[in-house]
Amino acid sequence: MNTNISRREFIKRSSVASGTAVLATGAAGSLLAAAGGDASTPAALGGAKAHAKSWPSWPAWDPANDSEVTKVLHSTTWSRSKLVKEFEEKWAALMGAKYCLAVVNGTNALSASFMVMDLKPGDEVICAPYTFSASLLGVLYKSAMPVFADIDPLTYQLDPAKVEAKITPRTKAILPVHICGYATDMERIMQIAKKHNLKVVEDVCQGHMTAINGKNLGTFGTTGCFSFQTSKVMPIGEGGAIITDDAELYDKLYSYHNYGFKTNVTPGSYDNIAAFILGNKIRMAEYQAAIGLCQLGKLEEQTRVRNENGAYLTPKLAAIPGITPVKPYPNVTRLSYYMYPFIYNEAEFNGLPRAAFVKALAAEGVPASPGYPKYPIYTQEFIHEMFKTEVYKKFYTSQELDWEAYKARNACPGLMKTFDTSVWLSTTGMFLGSKADMDDVVRAVEKIHKNSAKLKAA
Ligand SMILES: Cc1ncc(COP(=O)(O)O)c(C=O)c1O
Repeated sequence: MNTNISRREFIKRSSVASGTAVLATGAAGSLLAAAGGDASTPAALGGAKAHAKSWPSWPAWDPANDSEVTKVLHSTTWSRSKLVKEFEEKWAALMGAKYCLAVVNGTNALSASFMVMDLKPGDEVICAPYTFSASLLGVLYKSAMPVFADIDPLTYQLDPAKVEAKITPRTKAILPVHICGYATDMERIMQIAKKHNLKVVEDVCQGHMTAINGKNLGTFGTTGCFSFQTSKVMPIGEGGAIITDDAELYDKLYSYHNYGFKTNVTPGSYDNIAAFILGNKIRMAEYQAAIGLCQLGKLEEQTRVRNENGAYLTPKLAAIPGITPVKPYPNVTRLSYYMYPFIYNEAEFNGLPRAAFVKALAAEGVPASPGYPKYPIYTQEFIHEMFKTEVYKKFYTSQELDWEAYKARNACPGLMKTFDTSVWLSTTGMFLGSKADMDDVVRAVEKIHKNSAKLKAA
């Protein structure tokens, strides 16, 4: 895809849907697949669309909730106050964490975690590479070194064995990114972290409600960082949250998010406004919290529906040659279904290129994308720019800062393979549909599979 488009536009274009595998364990394929699949003419070649209706739209907003937001507007209490506090309490309770701090977005939730952490120039943080800049800006703000460990191309998640292989005496933290809302194997990551006394910042910006053995993502690490940006399964427009069980850390995070003032200073008041740490101002506003509280009321039921559709769809898609749904680890008990990723094997589709497959899916009424563009994070200029600063030059050797050597040292072949073979269905709206809608997705893929030679020739 065009690497110049913005991420949000990318997500919009890729709007889509689909579900996964969590609870689906090798059940039989669809009836159609058993009978050889739907071989009718693909929409890309003039046939009827597999899915002619529109999908449930996203973000979902119930107009009956308008008054909750207008109440805030009319109250003119717009800055952080009791609704933000209520949202924090509810999010902490839903996630199973002791503390929650609501912030402006996921990017700042992540950065704040690193900013208040004992992390200094010369330290290393082992990062998941299947992500974009937002995950690790805080690592660079602290002049620490991002070190990338590869993903497992079957799960898309940071591979714990690869993490362990990258640990050095300078390693201070691990940054797993639960990409597509699937779960990194946090039980193993936390064992490694404990063994080496490392902090863990979980990027749960895509993984709300995903659980491992019933425990929600975000509650394993030192902090769990969420995004409530529009495309997410908990959409506020913009918004974020940090959860933690560490009272002292929560206190620091609170100060950091309110100019570096002491925790007991009421936002907006002029009492005691002496800053004691280098802070920021990243407070959630009351109207964001009002939207969030309304959305929160629907999240559990929406997640249940998405998981039901995911479990229904997975064995049917898996029965089609050349389609391998991304595998959640066996200990995953619930998925967010932010995206439904699968691995596309061009050879099983008579050499039909992935781009043509994605286009043919869109023609069937099933929007899909190839996922993140092939531009690995460890080759992106924002890291290189930091290497040219005085602080990096002071704390790292010229060999460590040699850009070509850095890229080679951090190369992730599993990630590169994934860039070439991934297809993401964005399930936020789609997976709120019916079983018949899921059957349409299966028929779309079957039609393309059965007619792949013709599609390739077209
Ligand atoms: C994996 C990941 N990390 C971080 C972010 C940043 O969140 P936000 O857009 O709310 O700043 C996002 C979402 O956009 C994300 O998907």
